[in-house]
Amino acid sequence: MEVLKIRGGNPLRGSITVSGAKNAALPIFAATLLTDEECIIENVPDLSDVRYMAEILQCLGAHVAREGVHGWVFKAENLVSRAPYELVRKMRASVCLMGPLVGRLRQADVSLPGGCVIGPRPIDLHLKGLSKLNCDINISNGYVHIDGRSMRGGDLFLGGRHGPTVTGTANLLMAAVLAPGCTRIESAACEPEIVDLCGMLNAMGANISGVGSHHLTVEGVEKLHGCRYRIISDRIEAGTFLLAGAITGGDLTVSGVRTNHLSALLDKMEEADIETEIIGENSIRVIGAGQRRPVDLITLPHPAFPTDLQAQMCALMSLTPGLSILTEKIYPNRFMHVPELQRMGADISIEGPSAIIKGKDSLSGAPVMASDLRASAALILAGLAAQGETWIQRIYHIDRGYEHIDERLTELGADIARLPASEMPKEMLVEV
Ligand code: EPU
Repeated sequence: MEVLKIRGGNPLRGSITVSGAKNAALPIFAATLLTDEECIIENVPDLSDVRYMAEILQCLGAHVAREGVHGWVFKAENLVSRAPYELVRKMRASVCLMGPLVGRLRQADVSLPGGCVIGPRPIDLHLKGLSKLNCDINISNGYVHIDGRSMRGGDLFLGGRHGPTVTGTANLLMAAVLAPGCTRIESAACEPEIVDLCGMLNAMGANISGVGSHHLTVEGVEKLHGCRYRIISDRIEAGTFLLAGAITGGDLTVSGVRTNHLSALLDKMEEADIETEIIGENSIRVIGAGQRRPVDLITLPHPAFPTDLQAQMCALMSLTPGLSILTEKIYPNRFMHVPELQRMGADISIEGPSAIIKGKDSLSGAPVMASDLRASAALILAGLAAQGETWIQRIYHIDRGYEHIDERLTELGADIARLPASEMPKEMLVEV
């Protein structure tokens, strides 16, 4: 087990290039199962979740190889249709194997993934969509069994009580591209990661139109072919670095960014009086010095403020004098970071789906526990700005979504070190 030790107080300065998007890479890896030809995927972030998805594809029968650090080559000639519990339970995103398996093999037996710390994550919309494609669905012994022998295009609606489903849209697209006839998806997710998946599928010979909107039309084709595809940059990683620049009062340029993917964040940063500057087409500079103002925000599906930046914003507003209200509309219980920020002195109360934050002038370093990926990012941000030392345990969560975060922050001037848990003061250590 490793821990992160952060000594707060150093402003982040310099420039950093954003990695490829994890949440685009995962479904795009799954999409490589839709053809028996070679697919080469570039700009893939070097993350544990990504390596794990590649391992799952290998277990399903695909040949997998790496091309340098950020390239992967897949060739899925002989596949099996069963994704077992021991593979799926470790990563929820593996549920997006259902679509490609049923598309390609007309059958899929995929384990249900089980619980998730950020709240209930049902897949009812995925299954409703597949049944509209005329698949037979049966749940037994913890598995979803999908019989797609009579699969054909259909009209589906993917809006749920929290808006369109991102992975559900990915699953249905990957099934529909090889289903005979026309599929119309209403209330489809329009997140940049879905646009990227559509780009990959169309590069493989699929026929998807309406890309980037909530109305997608898929004309099924008989076969897809291989391709070489470059993944978009990670808007959530970019947003996390921008907020890190702001919380430390630094001067940071984040490059390789698609600035239009970050409009909601930039709008809130402006409302908070944080100076940002768009440089050219792909860089954003944040100048963190100066007094900030509190904000109210609501997380909603794209293009509104993303849930995956709520925890980091919570850390920032904990250090922004005044009253901020952050309301979570995607995962109303996604506040696992709050008790840990409170341990650092943050004044936050949870009222229903909202965090009410009374911003302070300072936080103090403490031993804290990471509970999920974005909560870990929030704790790092708080630690970078707090007085004294912060020790973060369970950092495997951060390695799922941020490539070499400690090394990259060190280059920007942060005092952060990855250490074996044995180096943590004994009285702080909760587990080894
Ligand atoms: N939902 C349903 N029924 C469904 C599917 C979803 O009610 O069948 C609900 C969910 O419970 C949630 C909302 O709809 O309240 C949105 O869920 P969605 O399916 O869109 O989420 P996801 O596809 O499982 C992806 C990202 C998450 C990100 C969300 C929202 C991946 C691998 N994961 O999850 O990323 O928070 O979209 O944008 O793409 C992260 O990276 O830290 C992360 C959790």
